[in-house]
Amino acid sequence: VRPERCVVAVDGPSGSGKSTVSRRLATAIDGIYLDTGAMYRAITWAVLHAGVDPQNADAVLKIAQETDLSIGTDPAAPHFEANGIDVDAAIRGPEVTGAVSAVAAVPAVRAMLVQLQKDIIAAAPRIIVEGRDIASVVAPDADLKVYLTASAAARAQRRSAEDATDVTATEADLARRDKLDSSRAADPLRQASDATTLDTTGMGIDEVVAELLSMLNSKVSS
Ligand code: DC
Repeated sequence: VRPERCVVAVDGPSGSGKSTVSRRLATAIDGIYLDTGAMYRAITWAVLHAGVDPQNADAVLKIAQETDLSIGTDPAAPHFEANGIDVDAAIRGPEVTGAVSAVAAVPAVRAMLVQLQKDIIAAAPRIIVEGRDIASVVAPDADLKVYLTASAAARAQRRSAEDATDVTATEADLARRDKLDSSRAADPLRQASDATTLDTTGMGIDEVVAELLSMLNSKVSS
């Protein structure tokens, strides 16, 4: 599959396999990859780096407006910088992970990042966009909308394998973030009515990628 133009929206909770699958899919169609979660994480890093309280919405917005974000979209190496500083490792660390839900709950921060995301999508011939509100808010006209899920245990297992952290603690942290992300007022994590759900519990990466490629094939060729 290498459609002329296509936008694929991949939403779902943490640990559902979104990132790995989205990157593989982008490579397969010779497209770019946009990790919107990394954008919220990079702003969160800047907030913490400035010593600002992530709960202080006004101060968070000010940091978001002042931060120069460099957003990498190469699926092989999606590299991010904030104010010229490499943040790839730091945005995956526990401090950022612990504070990102608060930052992502600020409506004006979301509005700002959603606009940036729309601009990147509009300029790209083929793009896979991963997040929580892609099908519903960022790219409602996407050619394919997928909602990836997996059981809480499977998601915790994947995350703790990635981060080398304890499974029980990871499962508790995922549950806490899912709750915050689903219950916030601004663009909560929810499934778009026209998205196709794929439960990846017990599925291998290759299997998930093949399934999505076949879905994309039938969408763009029909
Ligand atoms: O996918 P992730 O774990 O990197 O996402 C980080 C946080 O950002 C997570 O708490 C949910 C939030 N997020 C969001 O609110 N909207 C998006 N489009 C992507 C992520």
